[in-house]
Amino acid sequence: MALLRRQLAEEREDTGALLELRDVAKEFLTRRQRTKAIDHISMRVQNGEFVCIVGPSGCGKSTLLNIVAGLEHPSAGRVLFDGRPIVRPGAERVVVFQEPALYPWLNVRANVEMGLKIAGRNGADRKRLAERYIELVNLKRFSKAYMHELSGGMRQRVQLARALAVEPRMLLMDEPFAALDAQTRDVLQQELQEIWARTGATVLFVTHNVREAAILGDRVFVMTPAPGRLKREIGVDLPRPRSPDSHAVVDLAARIRAELEHDIYAVPSPEDSYAI
Ligand SMILES: Nc1ncnc2c1ncn2[C@@H]1O[C@H](COP(=O)(O)OP(=O)(O)OP(=O)(O)O)[C@@H](O)[C@H]1O
Ligand SMILES: [Mg+2]
Repeated sequence: MALLRRQLAEEREDTGALLELRDVAKEFLTRRQRTKAIDHISMRVQNGEFVCIVGPSGCGKSTLLNIVAGLEHPSAGRVLFDGRPIVRPGAERVVVFQEPALYPWLNVRANVEMGLKIAGRNGADRKRLAERYIELVNLKRFSKAYMHELSGGMRQRVQLARALAVEPRMLLMDEPFAALDAQTRDVLQQELQEIWARTGATVLFVTHNVREAAILGDRVFVMTPAPGRLKREIGVDLPRPRSPDSHAVVDLAARIRAELEHDIYAVPSPEDSYAI
């Protein structure tokens, strides 16, 4: 045990960032196709930052997030979390997906507690944390409700509470509001800003909605079409909370959109995706 601990300690590199990606690439090999999903991605995320990643459909946003989650492994490059290579999923990096994967036979409270149970927390902790985070996402009145009794936005709040309750060091959000109607989306964007301010969480947030990125991000990375590379980093220095209709947000969203549209008609080069 002591030896293992020493080996783990030795592996830690002082990167000066919570997350560091160094020249990461991912290629998928299926029976018919070889697809380069992302290429030459290098980025650093500091503790407490809210970083958005925007890019056209299929550019590798989910692939990038899944690599940080430990659900996929890069074909090349290194991914370091707190100075250590990411090798598998862990409770310090929790994913919030577009479609909430919740247990229909459990109520809200039990769904949130289930995440804590999987993370190995005891009964008293589970109760305390579930209550705290259900309240934080404004679902206290619905603690006993089952999933079919909730709207899409409420189910997404349950997923968020379940993710936050394990108090991860990084929240990985993959288009979490994309399936919601515009009004619900606006509400959840505002709530997420508050939750982020209150928890101090570090967030990596994938979206193809430029306005959303402008509302939420401290920094916004714009990706190229497949294979995704980071083509631009935009620092956002606007006061919070940010309203979706403020001039500054609308202007910034237009700037991000201009970066994206520049690429929209680009054709992937033949060596990036080809039959084998
Ligand atoms: N498990 C997989 N096996 C084979 N190819 C994959 C796999 N996962 C992703 N890909 C391919 O990698 C590329 C990037 O996919 P990815 O899902 O990361 O894109 P995305 O930017 O998240 O797209 P969207 O905006 O539509 O969600 C696509 O060409 C996709 O077909
Ligand atoms: Mg995706």
